[in-house]
Amino acid sequence: MAGTESRGSGTDTADEAVRATCDDASICKRFAISIGYWTDPYIQHFVRQAKERKAPEINRGYYARVQAVNQLLDAFLERTECNCQVINVGAGLDTTFWRLKDENRLPRKYFEVDFPMIVARKIHHIKSKPSLSKPILDAHSDQSLIINSHTLDSCRYCIIGADLRNLPGLEANLKKFNLDPQLPTVLVAECVLVYMRPEQSASLIKWAASTFPTAMFINYEQVNMGDRFGQIMVENLQRRQCNLAGVEACQSLESQRDRLLLNGWESATALDMMKVYCSLPQDDVRRIEKLEFLDEKELLEQLLLHYCICWATKDGQKLGLAEISF
Ligand SMILES: C[S@@+](CC[C@H](N)C(=O)[O-])C[C@H]1O[C@@H](n2cnc3c(N)ncnc32)[C@H](O)[C@@H]1O
Repeated sequence: MAGTESRGSGTDTADEAVRATCDDASICKRFAISIGYWTDPYIQHFVRQAKERKAPEINRGYYARVQAVNQLLDAFLERTECNCQVINVGAGLDTTFWRLKDENRLPRKYFEVDFPMIVARKIHHIKSKPSLSKPILDAHSDQSLIINSHTLDSCRYCIIGADLRNLPGLEANLKKFNLDPQLPTVLVAECVLVYMRPEQSASLIKWAASTFPTAMFINYEQVNMGDRFGQIMVENLQRRQCNLAGVEACQSLESQRDRLLLNGWESATALDMMKVYCSLPQDDVRRIEKLEFLDEKELLEQLLLHYCICWATKDGQKLGLAEISF
């Protein structure tokens, strides 16, 4: 859950605090993976194992988050038969490229964007660990491979260091590495927009809608932040000098959906994670619920009610993207 990933002072150090959330997310994912919530042989190459156990409700929240994003992403890949692009914005140390490679369903090109400092760390790990670099090279052809401290560009995988608040810079970078606006494109923002001011996230969403005629935008982040539990979350964070610049856009499922519809998308859905948790394949949910004893079921429910997944589509090629759901 993003509750463990929220730092930031709102001053000069705010970006540094936002960058730090990337480790928090990956460490929590690695911990849940080590207990058996889901499988990911690659994350261990990016982050250390957590020193302390994470609470069961946190692990279940991460499980729901990862399953939900994967299900929507995989549905898009299926609809487009992988003739598409993925752009993971604020990807951090995400390992989805390697999962898709192993499952033999890579898109034509998989792009990731994050701050240059995060990208430099990710590329350093990739360069120094054959388990990470070999799949990239295996998917590469004879064309030249670019790999320097702030960029990796191969045939199927590209990592770009850029600030998502600077759209001309973002677009120029993506185009330099052969982004094709005519190809169906899915953008994934997993716990990222909440760290940008509402007008900045709205501009990113609008840019995506106006750039790609056939596209989907998947957004996972906080919701219901205006109710008592949400306010307490925000207050606790503020007491620790933490600031979520985009919290205003996280007031309700409606505000989440409106942001997508008001910024150029044709259809949009927003579900709280409690609903999603109940819609995930229940055999697997029963399996993970046996992994750890959960004392406070209400706490899990409250947490799940304060995160959501939203997705929006534009369907220039009439691929039936609006039908994608859980
Ligand atoms: C909470 S982490 C999530 C990482 C990854 N999406 C995941 O779920 O594992 C948020 C990420 O968004 C990135 N990010 C936030 N604002 C950004 C911006 N303006 N430009 C580029 N990256 C940004 C951070 O550096 C960080 O890696």
